[in-house]
Amino acid sequence: MKILVFKNPEESADHISREILAALRHKPNLVLGLATGSTPIGVYTRLIHAHQNHGADFSGCATFNLDEYLDLPEDHEHSYRHFMNQHFFSGINLDPSNIHFPPSRGKQLAKQCLDYENKIKARGGIDIQILGIGSNGHIGFNEPTSSLMSRTRIKTLTEKTLRDNSRFYRTLEVQPQMASTVGIGTILEARKILLQAFGRKKVDAVHAAVEGPISAFWPGSALQLHPHVSFCLDAASASKLSLLDYYKRVRENELRLQS
Ligand code: PGA
Repeated sequence: MKILVFKNPEESADHISREILAALRHKPNLVLGLATGSTPIGVYTRLIHAHQNHGADFSGCATFNLDEYLDLPEDHEHSYRHFMNQHFFSGINLDPSNIHFPPSRGKQLAKQCLDYENKIKARGGIDIQILGIGSNGHIGFNEPTSSLMSRTRIKTLTEKTLRDNSRFYRTLEVQPQMASTVGIGTILEARKILLQAFGRKKVDAVHAAVEGPISAFWPGSALQLHPHVSFCLDAASASKLSLLDYYKRVRENELRLQS
């Protein structure tokens, strides 16, 4: 695992957007796994800038989002599709037919979830998966006790996740209690995983994911099984890591070897 501690979230976003743009130059039909939430916005802003000012071309790309609330209309201001349109898709040249979300409504949700898995496979799998992590350790909406082998399915959100996300809702609005999410098994099949976490409220989740035992109670810890995962952190989210100095020395040595 690569544990990268950046001065601030902006430096992390610089790093990840550079990785994505390099991969895109190498593979114009790149398949991206995308996340919502406040954490990845800096990456999306930089990719939009690269498209609008430096010709980065997303026309051959496909995207698969991690999760979506159940029973919200697609254009609802709290749907993740709306979030992605607002923060990313409206600023780049993706073909709308290459944008994918797990199911949010309709009948036969289990079948729709299976179809989503099959669409990912049909596109050749995910090249780069962008991830955040919840303060309870969830990745996607794989809440604590999610099977480490899980696939795309419907999950009930924990009280903690509902509390963390309540800032987006006006008091009288009904907050969705359920969502579809790709599984931990699905995430682990991505070729490369780039997880970002910022701020003190992520400190326990980061500690458990990086240094804890692998446990379904801390879903982020499943990433220890992945051969190409980077944890892109700021000082606050990394502050509980016991080998922090070691991770910094590893990084310095890697940079020295590269230069
Ligand atoms: P956040 O959410 O980026 O808004 O902190 C992350 C997550 O819950 O996965």
